[in-house]
Amino acid sequence: MSLTFETDPSITPQLRDGLGALWADVTNAGGAVGFVPPVTPEEVHPDLLAHLAAVDSGRTRMLIARDGRDTIVGGAFIALNGHRLKRHWCSVYTVMVHPSLQGKGHGRELMSEVEKTAREIEGITAIRLTCRGGLGLERFYTGCGYRETGRLPGAIKVADGDLRDDVTFWLALD
Ligand SMILES: CC(C)(COP(=O)(O)OP(=O)(O)OC[C@H]1O[C@@H](n2cnc3c(N)ncnc32)[C@H](O)[C@@H]1OP(=O)(O)O)[C@@H](O)C(=O)NCCC(=O)NCCS
Repeated sequence: MSLTFETDPSITPQLRDGLGALWADVTNAGGAVGFVPPVTPEEVHPDLLAHLAAVDSGRTRMLIARDGRDTIVGGAFIALNGHRLKRHWCSVYTVMVHPSLQGKGHGRELMSEVEKTAREIEGITAIRLTCRGGLGLERFYTGCGYRETGRLPGAIKVADGDLRDDVTFWLALD
């Protein structure tokens, strides 16, 4: 199945609900997008609203993937840097593909769209992202061309006694 990608779609109730449902489904399948399961769309709602407010303000770009039935099945956010000395790079976060579609190449396609969007932003020469250790995501991002540049050991507390590394990746665009 091929997906359709859109950058910065209009923020509508349908988009908001679709993203909230996706975010909860991805989390409940064990995905590392800021929560631990179980969560409901209502529980991710405040974070989603903060993401959409950042998009609305122009500080963040949004990428959405839809399937043939127009359902939102993937997404990623690209944050621009406010710091005057760091405006030449951006950060990617909340990268997700619906669990029913994972492992079919859509994640790589999504990251390729992220890269394309970042390249089109004036002055951007690199992308940074961080991920939770212990899930094999290093292999995914390395396969997308990113280089691991550091890790904070045990900086993410998934549960009492379950500390994960916070791993930083970097992709130079020049
Ligand atoms: C991470 C994610 C976006 C990858 O999307 P995907 O559609 O499953 O990935 P793809 O099918 O494009 O995989 C591309 C390659 O990465 C590998 N890969 C993907 N996810 C992986 C994982 N968790 N562990 C190890 N390898 C992984 C695939 O095996 C594939 O390798 P190959 O080309 O050698 O076969 C998706 O699995 C997801 O949404 N996960 C839950 C949310 C999450 O944790 N996001 C990361 C936030 S930092």
